[in-house]
Amino acid sequence: MATRIIGTGRGLPEKVVTNDDLSKFMETSDEWIASRTGIRERRLATTETTAGMAAEASKKALAMAGMNPEELDLIIVGTITNDYVTPSCACEVQSMIGATNAMAFDVNAACTGFMVALNTAHVYMLSGKYKNALVIGAETLSKIMDWNDRSTCVLFGDGAGAAVLSFDKNENGSRGLISYTQGADGASGMQLAGQNRTNNNPFVSTSKELKYVSMDGQEVYKFAVSKVPASILQVLEEADMKVEDISYFILHQANIRIIQSVAKRLKVDVDKFPISLDHCGNVSAASVPILLDEVNEKGLLKKGDKIVVAGFGGGLTWSAGIIEW
Ligand code: ACO
Repeated sequence: MATRIIGTGRGLPEKVVTNDDLSKFMETSDEWIASRTGIRERRLATTETTAGMAAEASKKALAMAGMNPEELDLIIVGTITNDYVTPSCACEVQSMIGATNAMAFDVNAACTGFMVALNTAHVYMLSGKYKNALVIGAETLSKIMDWNDRSTCVLFGDGAGAAVLSFDKNENGSRGLISYTQGADGASGMQLAGQNRTNNNPFVSTSKELKYVSMDGQEVYKFAVSKVPASILQVLEEADMKVEDISYFILHQANIRIIQSVAKRLKVDVDKFPISLDHCGNVSAASVPILLDEVNEKGLLKKGDKIVVAGFGGGLTWSAGIIEW
C-alpha cells in the first residue's frame, strides 16, 4: 500500500520585491537581510489571492499527474491566510478547478500546514476512504505583516504549492510516504503569533485595531534547530533508514542559518538541502510544496529516491516525513 505524489505545481505572484526595493522605504539593507537569513527577494501578491495561487498550483500538479479534477475525492489546504473565514480556501480551490467530487477543508498549522495536510490525506487514504487527494500550502502572508516592523516583514513572501496524491493498494512500486511524525507545543505558541479579530459585539468594549504577526526570532530559531533534526532522526529510525539513504532534505524555508544548522547536526552535506528562500522568502505552509515542485521540475527526483520533507513554525508545530519517489 502506498500514498504516492504523482504531480506537483506552484503558483506565485507576479511582483518580485528585492531587498533593495525594501530598503527604499524602510531602514534595512540587502546586506542585513541576506547575511542573517539568506533571503534576497520574495514575491508579493498585488492582485493575486491565496485561493487563486492555490488553484494555479493545483492545475499544474493535476496536469503533471495526468488526472482530471473530477477524479479528486479530497482537497486539503494548509494556510493561515485564507481569503475568507468561510468558505475555506480548499472549497474555493474546489470550485476554481472543478473538483466537484472532492471533500475540501483547510488546516491551520502555520509553516507546518502542508505537512499536516499531507499526513491527514495519507491517513484518510490508508483507511480506504479516499483514493486521490490534492494537498496544498498557500499563503498571502504580506497581508498579515506589520510593514512598519522591519524585523518580521522582510522575512516573508506569498505563494502556493500543491501535490497530487494517489493511493495504490498494490505492494509493487514506490512506497510513497513511508513514515511521518508531527507534534505541537501550544504553550510556546506566543513566540510566533498573529492575533485574529477580537470580541466584537454590543456587549463588549473592544479595540478595533487589527494585530499583525509578531515573533521572538531567537526563541523560534532555538526551537527550529533542536526540533527539526530530532524529528528527522525519529522518522529515519521508524523507517529503519540512515541519513545516508536520503537524496534530498526538503525543509521549510525560514532561514538559511536554520538549514545550515540542521545539516550540521545531522552531519549531512548542506548541498543535499535545496533552497528556495533566496528567491521566495519564507512562504509558511507554501514553502515545502514550492521547493518540492522546483526540485521536481529540475528533474532531480528519480524513481526510488528517498527524500525527507519537514515543516516547523507557528503553533508551535512541527512535522517530518520520508517519501520514496
Ligand atoms: N534590517 C536592519 N536591521 C534590522 C532588521 C532589518 N530588517 N531587523 C532587525 N534589525 C535590527 C534590530 O533592530 C536590532 O538592532 P539593535 O541591535 O540596534 O536593537 C538588530 O538588527 C538585531 O536584531 P535581532 O532581532 O536581535 O536580530 P537577529 O540577529 O536575532 O536576527 C532573525 C533576526 C533573522 C529573525 C533571527 O532571529 C532568526 O534567524 N530567527 C529565526 C526565526 C525565523 O527565521 N523565523 C522566521 C519565521 S518563523 C518560521 O517560519 C518557523
